[in-house]
Amino acid sequence: MKKIVIIYGSSTGTTQAVAEAIASRLDVKDVFDVATITKGQVEPYDVLILGTSTWGDGELQDDWNDGINVIKSVNLAGKDVALFGCGDSMAYSDTFCNGMHLLKEELEGTGCNFIGGIPADGYSYSDSTAVEEGEFIGAAIDDNNEPEKTGERIDTWLASFKDRL
Ligand SMILES: Cc1cc2nc3c(=O)[nH]c(=O)nc-3n(C[C@H](O)[C@H](O)[C@H](O)COP(=O)(O)O)c2cc1C
Repeated sequence: MKKIVIIYGSSTGTTQAVAEAIASRLDVKDVFDVATITKGQVEPYDVLILGTSTWGDGELQDDWNDGINVIKSVNLAGKDVALFGCGDSMAYSDTFCNGMHLLKEELEGTGCNFIGGIPADGYSYSDSTAVEEGEFIGAAIDDNNEPEKTGERIDTWLASFKDRL
């Protein structure tokens, strides 16, 4: 088993709760809030599972604006990165879970490998930068409108990269 850490940014607790649900499925103990992350809480791990909600008009959750720089201060070459994100596919249908894409964009060129995805055809939304070739680039979660689908979505996404853990 590789060393796994889960790091989340959350303004009202939704992404934090999803981070904890992922941690319990993987039996991961190291779950950190990106608001207080240190370099030492990133460096030792082989797999980084990073979660952000989307705010504003398709923006990152606030704490990621500084937190991403802490993560990028670590040598990420060869580390695996899996993404998850919380959003609202009804009220913010044009920018649904765009934050995941912003995290990926920040980390491109660091030498990390992106892992995990989930088919986009099980969702209703107008547009999302977090969809590539018919798949969300991470676990897109809409706890506002479809909380009953959250558990299954987490499981589907985890299954997509279980051979990397
Ligand atoms: C002012 C505001 C702006 C939002 N903008 C977006 C958005 O652009 N895209 C999206 O998918 N969700 C958007 N959301 C929904 C939040 O991402 C969603 O409620 C999420 O579950 C919050 O998670 P958190 O409590 O972990 O921060 C927005 C919500 C609010 C209140």
